[in-house]
Amino acid sequence: MIDVFQSLARRGLFLLDPEAAHGLSIKGLKTGLVPACAAPADSRLTQTVAGLSFANPIGLAAGYDKNAEVPEALLRLGFGFTEIGTVTPKPQAGNDKPRIFRLVEDEAVINRLGFNNEGHQAALYRLRSCARSAMIGVNIGANKDSADRIADYVTGIRTFYGVARYFTANISSPNTPGLRDLQARESLAALLSAVLAARDGEAAKAGVRVPVFLKIAPDLTEEGMDDIAAVALEHSLDGLIVSNTTLSRDGLKDQRQAKESGGLSGKPLFEKSTIVLAKMRKRVGPDLPIIGVGGVSSAETAAEKIRAGANLVQLYSCMVYEGPSLPGRIVRGLSQLCDREKLGSIADIRGSRTDYWAGKNV
Ligand SMILES: Cc1cc2nc3c(=O)[nH]c(=O)nc-3n(C[C@H](O)[C@H](O)[C@H](O)COP(=O)(O)O)c2cc1C
Repeated sequence: MIDVFQSLARRGLFLLDPEAAHGLSIKGLKTGLVPACAAPADSRLTQTVAGLSFANPIGLAAGYDKNAEVPEALLRLGFGFTEIGTVTPKPQAGNDKPRIFRLVEDEAVINRLGFNNEGHQAALYRLRSCARSAMIGVNIGANKDSADRIADYVTGIRTFYGVARYFTANISSPNTPGLRDLQARESLAALLSAVLAARDGEAAKAGVRVPVFLKIAPDLTEEGMDDIAAVALEHSLDGLIVSNTTLSRDGLKDQRQAKESGGLSGKPLFEKSTIVLAKMRKRVGPDLPIIGVGGVSSAETAAEKIRAGANLVQLYSCMVYEGPSLPGRIVRGLSQLCDREKLGSIADIRGSRTDYWAGKNV
């Protein structure tokens, strides 16, 4: 019955422009119209990462709930965590519409939103009413017209310190000109010094250390990956999120939509983002947490991210195609995998295929 409801809802939503459909899905979550389909709790899926306990390893990636409108409703769908944002200090409109495109045959999305969001204060106001126990991360960025981008990230840490369970410094959106330059060695060192010093300052005041993750692009050279790994380890970063959307258009069926500029996500990103994840795992060693993102559409693809070296997994685009029951189905599928392979914990498969993925070329 839920499946019938969801396939009808999907057909209806696909008649709308993608951004209008997104707005409607947020309204559905606000009003409780979207049926909750969380999987039963399973202790084999519980993961402790960066000192936090996650009920399961499947999270919603940034960009869906940019303004923290529905984080608790998303958790009720069965996600083990959700990430709001990217939020910037000042509200900003983003790029001109249309700016989200569905590539239906490819089960992919291209977006060039450009950090459209209501700004820090609007998100903070909403997050203050969420349960303290809710596993909600805050993804922070810089305003397009900012004179000091690093200062924008520092403001993000200070503003959300009391409400974020973790932070993600997003330096990998392709839609804010120059943002990805922050991934270069010296800029990244300056960013992480400032952001982690701000975090340490807040931690001393609050008595709680909130972890900071760094979200990187999949479009990196081997040297670029070396630099990020070196700086992350030098600065004792808490973890990496691999990856954001790609500028590549390789292997797409929908050649008409492929011409749109912006970041590509969904199924065609799976291979590339998994290779970069494994290559980063090889560089940072076994202990630094990595969240694997890009093209996850099933329990099998989620498990493959873990085999490639991920501690946790996030997804966004494939939920557009699969509907809101996807997180519950993936979590159930991971429990079944634990049954089949007689695993005490899903973490037992972590890294079993890092060499395989790291040996491929992006
Ligand atoms: C419409 C859209 C908006 C996004 N906005 C953000 C964002 O604001 N911040 C961010 O870090 N990532 C953003 N992302 C990237 C996703 O968080 C994710 O890294 C990427 O889409 C790959 O995962 P997926 O293939 O499961 O979608 C966005 C993705 C999409 C499709």
